[in-house]
Amino acid sequence: MSLGTEKVVMIGGGGHAMSCLDAADPRRLEFVGYVSPKPDERLPLPYLGGDDVLEELQRTAATSAFVALGDNTARRSLCEVVTRMGFELATVVADTARVSPYASVAPGAAVLHGALVGPRSEIGTGAVVNTAASVDHDCVVGEYAHLAPGTHLAGGVHVGEGSFAGVGASVIPDVRIGPWAVVGAGAVVITHVPPRETVVGAPARSRRRS
Ligand SMILES: CC(C)(COP(=O)(O)OP(=O)(O)OC[C@H]1O[C@@H](n2cnc3c(N)ncnc32)[C@H](O)[C@@H]1OP(=O)(O)O)[C@@H](O)C(=O)NCCC(=O)NCCS
Repeated sequence: MSLGTEKVVMIGGGGHAMSCLDAADPRRLEFVGYVSPKPDERLPLPYLGGDDVLEELQRTAATSAFVALGDNTARRSLCEVVTRMGFELATVVADTARVSPYASVAPGAAVLHGALVGPRSEIGTGAVVNTAASVDHDCVVGEYAHLAPGTHLAGGVHVGEGSFAGVGASVIPDVRIGPWAVVGAGAVVITHVPPRETVVGAPARSRRRS
């Protein structure tokens, strides 16, 4: 293992954890195992136990943690917990992703296989740009937001903290999606989305009004 390898505990053992493990560069991140309420033998990492083992792991086995939970609220909460314990937040960027040198990706974020992040875009702490999602120029993807596979943001889109865009959603330029909003799978967002609103359809409308 190279001297530059970061020892990381994975938090979460589900499908999203598998995708993140699959995307992570083993030359940079060495996963010592995963922590989850229960083991899942399909994840090819050692099972280390539940959250109660984290403090001991921080002292003995890993300097960094990566929270691989798809749910935005849970991911934020665990990122905050492990940061308080003294872990660094590891960042996963797939070798097949293309992140512009003029873009930034904050700690704890995941940019998975085939994703694109364009120039002057910012991916916030703990955010997820999932498989084959694209973020064009001058976008902001807020902390703990999640762009599901195949989401496309045109230029200048702001996605608020904790917001979720479902698989295949598209957003036209300069639209703002408020914090903790939900954009349904396949939606085409052409107007601003208020905080905590759920929108679906093409063009996307509030689910209550649809
Ligand atoms: C938008 C969403 C969050 C709503 O979930 P929900 O609250 O459980 O909604 P329901 O399934 O009860 O559907 C409520 C209504 O909205 C409609 N609806 C739900 N999702 C829709 C979508 N993506 N596009 C269009 N209509 C949708 C339903 O047809 C239903 O309409 P009806 O009341 O006329 O029958 C969900 O359907 C969705 O799109 N999730 C994305 C999941 C995803 O992409 N995950 C990726 C994980 S990486």
